[in-house]
Order: sequence, then structure tokens, then C-alpha cells
Amino acid sequence: MRLSLRFVLPLLLVLAAFAYAMVPLVDQFTLRWFVRDLDIRANLIANTVQEPLQEQLAAGSRAKTINFFNRITQDERVYAVGYCASTDSRPLASRTLPAEILCSDLDRWQAPGEHLLHSTQGPLHVAVKPLASEAAPAGQLVLVHDMSFVARRSEETKRYVFYVFMGIAAVVSMITVIIAQVSWRGWVAGMRALLRGEGLLRQPVPQTASPEFRPIARDLQRLVRELEADYRSRDESQMTWTPETLRAILHSELAGEDVIVVSNREPYIHQRQGERIEVQRPASGLVTALEPIMRACSGTWIAHGSGSADREVVDRHDRVGVPPEKNAYQLRRVWLTPDEESGYYYGFSNEGLWPLCHIAHVRPIFRSGDWSHYVAVNRKFADAVVAEAKTRAPIVLVQDYHLALLPRLIRERLPAATVITFWHIPWPNPESFAICPWRDEIVAGLLGSSILGFHTQFHCNNFVDTVDRFLEARVDRESFTVTLGGKATAVRRYPISIAWPPDAEMVGKPVEQCRAEIRQANGLPADIAIGVGVDRLDYTKGILERFRAVERLLELNPEWIGRFCFVQIAAPSRSRIEEYQDHEARVRAAAIRINERFGRGGRDSAPPILLKVQHHEPQQVYEYYRAAALGFVSSLHDAMNLVAKELLASRDDERGVLILSEFTGAARELPEALIVNPYDADQCAAALHLALTMAPAEQRDRMRLMRGLVGEFNVYRWAGRMLLDAALMRRRGRLLEKPATRKA
Ligand code: G6P
Repeated sequence: MRLSLRFVLPLLLVLAAFAYAMVPLVDQFTLRWFVRDLDIRANLIANTVQEPLQEQLAAGSRAKTINFFNRITQDERVYAVGYCASTDSRPLASRTLPAEILCSDLDRWQAPGEHLLHSTQGPLHVAVKPLASEAAPAGQLVLVHDMSFVARRSEETKRYVFYVFMGIAAVVSMITVIIAQVSWRGWVAGMRALLRGEGLLRQPVPQTASPEFRPIARDLQRLVRELEADYRSRDESQMTWTPETLRAILHSELAGEDVIVVSNREPYIHQRQGERIEVQRPASGLVTALEPIMRACSGTWIAHGSGSADREVVDRHDRVGVPPEKNAYQLRRVWLTPDEESGYYYGFSNEGLWPLCHIAHVRPIFRSGDWSHYVAVNRKFADAVVAEAKTRAPIVLVQDYHLALLPRLIRERLPAATVITFWHIPWPNPESFAICPWRDEIVAGLLGSSILGFHTQFHCNNFVDTVDRFLEARVDRESFTVTLGGKATAVRRYPISIAWPPDAEMVGKPVEQCRAEIRQANGLPADIAIGVGVDRLDYTKGILERFRAVERLLELNPEWIGRFCFVQIAAPSRSRIEEYQDHEARVRAAAIRINERFGRGGRDSAPPILLKVQHHEPQQVYEYYRAAALGFVSSLHDAMNLVAKELLASRDDERGVLILSEFTGAARELPEALIVNPYDADQCAAALHLALTMAPAEQRDRMRLMRGLVGEFNVYRWAGRMLLDAALMRRRGRLLEKPATRKA
């Protein structure tokens, strides 16, 4: 209806304006026609009356002539008749002859176009005809016609013209509307056929689309995909990502499917302490990120049961509900023999792949025995996934470098599963990766994933380059998809993060209280400034470089001696590996050396470095973060580093300074930190000094910006983004599986 009005109204207006413009023209034309008719008529009457009039004039009877004239005027149109014998005589005329007509002035009515007289009786037509005869008296015959009928006819004509135009307008409008409706529907149907699904599914243009659309189809599909992505990102930017958002996505987009997470490290470790069983939360970025996700999504987390009391608390299916205080999901434990743990975890994963991917100047070690265990343990995890899957198409989130073969094993056994693999550590360039004797198997194993995620685009690029170099796989760099054996893997960047806002209990204790308690617990003076580092005792974390920076600070700015203490929390990690043992020894030695050099001894003095090699529970770690004037993350190579983000989350007072290594993924997201090269001790020392002297207002400004970013790009968004992509992929997959349906 609206469409019709849109067409008809302008058309009607145009035609009405046209008809209106025609009216004066109609008047002119009709007048000209009628004047011509009256001229002819006047000639006719003059010819007819000439003879009898001349006879009467010859007879000299004026009265008879006037009577004769009066009789003629009985004709409806002839208004008056007169006769002028000469220009100076008075007219002999019927009684109706207007006074304006004078014998002396007859020439006036003979000029071309001068036949009209607007008298008090109305418009009159005046024709002057000479009486031509040799015998009879000559003179001029004046014939006056009434023209009021012309005005009446003209009015009627105008009315008809107007009606005709309106009729034409109506007919033309109707035809236009019908044509417009028919072609619009066809166009819309064609467009819909084109876009229905095809904008989202990279399929050939359906044959239902009209041929005229086919040339532009690909462009349109691309445009729709771009709009879709744009809409999605705009939409996302307006969303607040919370556990509820994630749950809603699971229900709306994934029909409440169970999510299975698989990782080597478990989120809760049960340890026997004499008579008691203690529950430990491991120091692991992976666990920090995934635990809140699992609380939100429920489902099952499959992991290596590494705690001394782990077997004691599981049910007969090796499951235990966690978190212990309020079960939200199931932890399914996988048991490894000491040999398996040694070959798969310590050996291939942490002596081989870990240094290989981090390029932190520690040589990777690859042993074929370790590789065999790695393969066997990956199979063990695959068995657990199949056992835990409640449907034939579960969503499986495979985590990290310990399980590189698992995606392919899952795909072989559960082909309909959606496998999202996330590689939490860096992926090196192809030359570096080529060192691994089983590089092809590792890459092919990962390509069993539907989606393979890295923290940064740089690592995505490195992975795709590696595939390109070593495997016979199709690499599409536009869509960042790798196809091996007909199965596609999307390689995507998903920068990981932490839960936001942090648990209330984590930030419950006031900052002042945290500071006072920590100073007291560590025997530090009341006015000392505290710096903090929190890491696993790992050579990639740059702990030695950090200590070197503290030493340099005290060399360059001795005013900080005794006024600044750097507390390093170092969680023991992978301690059976020789390289880690050596590293721990070096770290301990460095701390002792620096403390000897700059420590003043005595009751009220503080060592420059306080090294705490022991496990700390998350809440204790948060108290250190809150007590500190600065936090120092100096990793030599780190894919993301969640300690940096946790430190920001802990500072709801908007105080404190973050010093961050440029070789972390986090540095790309947090430019407001003091970004340093950990190998440059002078630069790091300058950053320490700057942090210790930074004005509170500047601390607040930097903190606000960084906290804003971490709050917005939190871990729910990280997981939500992957799940949304998986959901889209599943919908596409289902559509492609279905045989194409044709219109009956
Ligand atoms: C890194 C790895 C994780 C691992 C964590 C702790 O963050 O990416 O997979 O869990 O280190 O290491 P651990 O060997 O103790 O599990």
C-alpha cells in the first residue's frame, strides 16, 4: 500500500499540474475557433440578406428595413443587425445594436482579430460586410453575434479536459503500480534467494536466484559477510560479557550442548597433608582463564589427576564435582603411569615443545621414547573424551601443547564433534619449528580441530606458514583456513583474559590493610615501598633479568636502598626437569648475591629482594598485588601473561604501576603500562624508578585505561567469541550436510 502511494501520488500531482496549465490554452483555442465560425456565419447571413435588404433600401422604407432587421435578430445567436449607408450617416439598425458601433468608425471592426466587443450585455462578435452591387445602394452591413454561448462552451470544454486528464492519470497510475509491484516482488524474491543462507554459507549461488543477480552474487555475499561481521562486532562492543552472557550463548546458539574441556593441568588438585586432604589451585594461566568459564557453562573438564589424594576423592567413573565448596561442573581425571608422566609431560611437552615454542635460549630436547608416551597419552585422553561425550556431536575445547594430537584423534572417533583447540603458548616461525622431528604429526594432529586459536595474529601467521612449509594442505590466507584431507580448520586469534569483575573476596581486604599485613608478615619496615613479581619458577619468565634490574636500580639510584623491597613469589614448577632445577638455583643465587650487596642488615632494614619459592593460593597472591607500589612482568617470551591482567584487576583503588615486558602478548593490549625490554637492565631500572616516583594522578589515569580494557575484553568474551564461531560453524555444517531441497 505504501509502495502504491509512493508511485501514485507524485503521478497524480504531475498530471493535475499539467491539466491546470492547459486551462488558459483551452480558452484561447476555443475562442479562436468560435470567432472563425462566427466570421463564416456572418458572411453567410450577409450573402443571404443582401438581396432582400437592397430591395428594401431601394424601396426607401426605413421602418420595413428595421423590422426586417428585428426579425433576423430572432435567431438565437444574432444579437443585432445594422446598415450604414456611408461613414457620416446614422446606422439603420435593429433596436439591439450597441451604441459603441458607429458608422464613422466601422473600419475598426474590419482589422484582423478585432471582432470582439465587450459590451454591458456581455461579449459580442462584430462583423462588417460591404454590400457589393452596381445597381442597388452600396453601404456596409453590420452583423453582431452574441458570444455568451462561447464562454459556456469553453467552461464545458475545460471541465471535460480536466476529467480526461484525471482519467488518464488514474489509468497510468494503476499500470505503474502493477508493474512496480510485480517487478519489486520479483527483485526482492531474487535478492532473498540470493542472500538466504548463501551470505553466510560459502556456497555457489543457488539456481533459484534470477540470472540477472548472478554476476553480482559473489560481491553481495561478501558484503553480507562483512556486514555480518561488522554487526557482530558492533553488537559485541555493546554487550557486557558476564557468566550469564556465556550461559545465554550456550543455550541460544548451541542448544545447551555440553561443553567438554580437556587439558593436562587440572583446576583443583587434592593433596594429602598427613591426615588431611588439601585442595590446591595450581599456578597456571590456563586454569585461571578456563575455570570461570567452566563455572558458567557446567559440563565436564578432563585433566590429568596429578595430586597425591586425587584418586581418593573421585567416584567410580573417576569424576569429582568442583569447585569443592559449591559444585558447578564435573572434573574427570585421567591417570598416568610414572613413565607416561615422565615421557609425555616432563619429556616431550616440557623439555621439547615448551622451549621449542618459547625460543628462550634453552635447547629443546626430543627423545623418541618421550614421543611414544606423548602419542599414547593423547590416545588416553581421546578415550576419556569419547567416554564423557553425551552426544555424537559434543563441543570439545582442547587446551595447549600437551594435547596436540588429540584434535585429530577426536575427529576420527567423533566426526561430528566441534573441536576448538587453543594453543596457550607462542607458535614459532617455521624454521624454528622445523627442529621438532615430529613436526608433521604435531601440525596434522592440530588440524583435526574445527577452530585453532592463538593469542596473537603473529602466532596465527607463524602456524599457517608452518603448515604451508611442511604439509600438503590447502591454505587460504584470506579466510585463514587450512584444509587437510578435505577437512577445514579455521585459524583464529582470540586473546585470552581473566574473569571480570574479580571475585569480591579477592578484593575484599582494604589496600592499606593488605600492605600492613604483608609488611608485618615478611618483617619489612612500615614505610617500605613494595614491588611484586608473581610467576612459576620458569626460565621464560625473566626472573633473573628482573633481579638484575632491581640491582641496577640500586646502583643508579642508591636512595632506594633500604626503602624498596622487591617480593618475588615463585611457584615451584616442573622441578624434576634439570633445566628448571638449574634455573631455580640461579634465581636463588642471584637473590642472595644482590641482598648481600645492598642489604643493610639490622632490625629495621629490608632486603632488596624477598624470594618466596612456594605455592600461594590466589587470594594470597591478590593481597600481594594490592599491597604493591608496582608489579613487574619481565617475561622473555610469553604468548599473553595473565599475571599482568590480574594485577590490574586487583587494583580497584586505581593505584600502582605495571611494568611489562614488550615480549608478552599482553603488551599489545596494554600500552599504558611501562613497556620494557627485559634484556635491557638500565631501561628496566629507569622504569622501576619512574614507577616508584609516579604521581598518583598519573597512576590513576593509566590504571583506569588498562582496567577498562581488561574489563571489556574479559575471559567470558574470549570463550564466548569461540563458542559463537563454533555455533556458526555447526549451523553451516548442518546445512551443507542436508541434501539441497528444490521448490516443488
Ligand atoms: C603455561 C601453560 C599451561 C600450564 C601452565 C602451568 O601457562 O600454557 O598449559 O598449565 O603453564 O604449567 P604446569 O606445567 O604446571 O601445568
